[in-house]
Amino acid sequence: MTRAMKILALAAAAFVLAGTPSLAQQNAAADASKADAAIAAAFPTAPAEWRPRFDQDETMKQCSLHRNLPPKNIADEIQKREKARIEYPADGKLMGDWKAGERVAQSGYGLRFSDYPPRQANGGNCYACHQLTKAEVSYGTIGPSLLNYGKVRNFSEADTKAVYEKIYNAQAAYPCSNMPRLGLNKVLTIEQIKDLVALVMSRESPVNQ
Ligand code: HEC
Repeated sequence: MTRAMKILALAAAAFVLAGTPSLAQQNAAADASKADAAIAAAFPTAPAEWRPRFDQDETMKQCSLHRNLPPKNIADEIQKREKARIEYPADGKLMGDWKAGERVAQSGYGLRFSDYPPRQANGGNCYACHQLTKAEVSYGTIGPSLLNYGKVRNFSEADTKAVYEKIYNAQAAYPCSNMPRLGLNKVLTIEQIKDLVALVMSRESPVNQ
């Protein structure tokens, strides 16, 4: 090996090592101040109304700290806190109109850079993570398929409530869930959530055909 080749080989080895963090590094608690600084630096011209979205609430902080795998006592704490934050419909009815729900489920409108000022109601973007009907040719698989979700649960009242709660605040059901807290974060209104519950849980909905 020539001297130049040796230097190249060493550099390549160093590169590989540097790119592979040790197990200890991977498990080290995330440094919140570094992450905050990086986010602040990434959006220097963000309008003032976006600023609150940079701040993690207590639940997000705990999930970040534990890399979405909180120990049981923290998971219980998150679940309890998030459950207490769920708002229910004033009229006590958890199901609206599945047809309206289907439009919300298939819409990804809202909160994107190009959606200001808002020109239509926000969507729930459900299709991006879930299969909903057999007719769909394109859907995401981050979440489980919801095909026949109501049917296999006998359209039960308890499951209808659970679906409302899941959509309003996904972390009340599953701490550090990847599913957004759509009601809590005011992405969707209570009426829109009721329509989505009907889409998932009503007998007439194409989800259950
Ligand atoms: C970013 C991805 C994502 C989006 C968007 C999303 N979900 Fe989910 N959803 C998940 C994941 C992941 C789960 C699995 C449980 C968990 O991690 O919370 C889930 C679970 C669920 C469940 C419970 C499933 C079960 O096994 O009992 C329902 C019901 C549900 N989602 C409905 C919806 C509806 C309706 C929408 C649209 C308003 C939606 N989801 C949007 C990711 C998503």
